[in-house]
Amino acid sequence: MNTFKDKVIWITGASSGIGESLAIEFAKRGARLILSARREEELIRVLNLTKLPSLDIMLLPFDLNDTSKASGLAAQVINKFGRIDLLINNGGFSQRSEAIETPIEIDRLLMEVNYFSYINLSKAVLPYMKRQKNGHIVIVSSIAGKFGFYLRSSYSAAKHALHGFFETLRLETESLGIKILIVCPGKIKTKVSINAITESGNSHNKMDKSHEIAMTAEECAKQIINGIIKNKEEIYIGGKEILMVKIKRLLPKLFSKLIRKQSPY
Ligand SMILES: NC(=O)c1ccc[n+]([C@@H]2O[C@H](COP(=O)([O-])OP(=O)(O)OC[C@H]3O[C@@H](n4cnc5c(N)ncnc54)[C@H](OP(=O)(O)O)[C@@H]3O)[C@@H](O)[C@H]2O)c1
Repeated sequence: MNTFKDKVIWITGASSGIGESLAIEFAKRGARLILSARREEELIRVLNLTKLPSLDIMLLPFDLNDTSKASGLAAQVINKFGRIDLLINNGGFSQRSEAIETPIEIDRLLMEVNYFSYINLSKAVLPYMKRQKNGHIVIVSSIAGKFGFYLRSSYSAAKHALHGFFETLRLETESLGIKILIVCPGKIKTKVSINAITESGNSHNKMDKSHEIAMTAEECAKQIINGIIKNKEEIYIGGKEILMVKIKRLLPKLFSKLIRKQSPY
């Protein structure tokens, strides 16, 4: 896909951060958008920023934790636009709690929103992509989907699970014209650390130091779009922290030393 003019693109997590920046960038490139997240008022704010006419944009607010809605929502998109060219599974939240302190209900919530909702929404969209004989699914994972990290046990587990599922789906659906890109951001300057869940179930509510000085969401969105254009299967986006993925693969003993020296924040 080298142009986004008139392409129908559904973005989850579009009310903030990376999803918001993707919405603005795709709008500039002439796409037609479906924006999802829980907070409708924030989606309206993003809708205004895109400056798209109502014919070319649709808000579909919903909670990713409610997996019962996906097929009905996909049908609403088809009713309005007739097709879905790109699904960007991006919505989610991080974790700031030690595994030993974290109640299992919070582990399950992290898996539900960051893993099951991605496969659920993709399964709702796949029959339409199959009928169209093309489609592109983007998965926003994390470098925490490539290695475990302090305070992120179930977040990291959910992101790892995405790789297993979507690498398999890629093999099974490429003959149907369906492409899958897995994006692994490192640190991006968004509200992800503020919105991260703690062992109490409350938000961490602090901007981590490493996020304050990180790559902007706008730059991240541009790199995701380049990855789509170039038909990449997996990309890493961020600062020097993304080198850890390569170090783990090529120099596992060095990785083991370095990872222990990283601040969780
Ligand atoms: N920023 C980073 O450094 C970083 C690094 C690696 C991976 N990521 C991944 O990037 C993705 C986007 O995060 P971000 O950095 O842009 O953070 P963000 O600014 O906190 O945005 C998260 C988005 O997800 C939505 N969301 C959260 N829980 C939801 C739920 N239960 N139902 C529906 N929508 C929900 C939020 O909208 P509502 O609150 O309105 O629902 C918001 O639009 C996430 O998958 C995150 O894991 C980010």
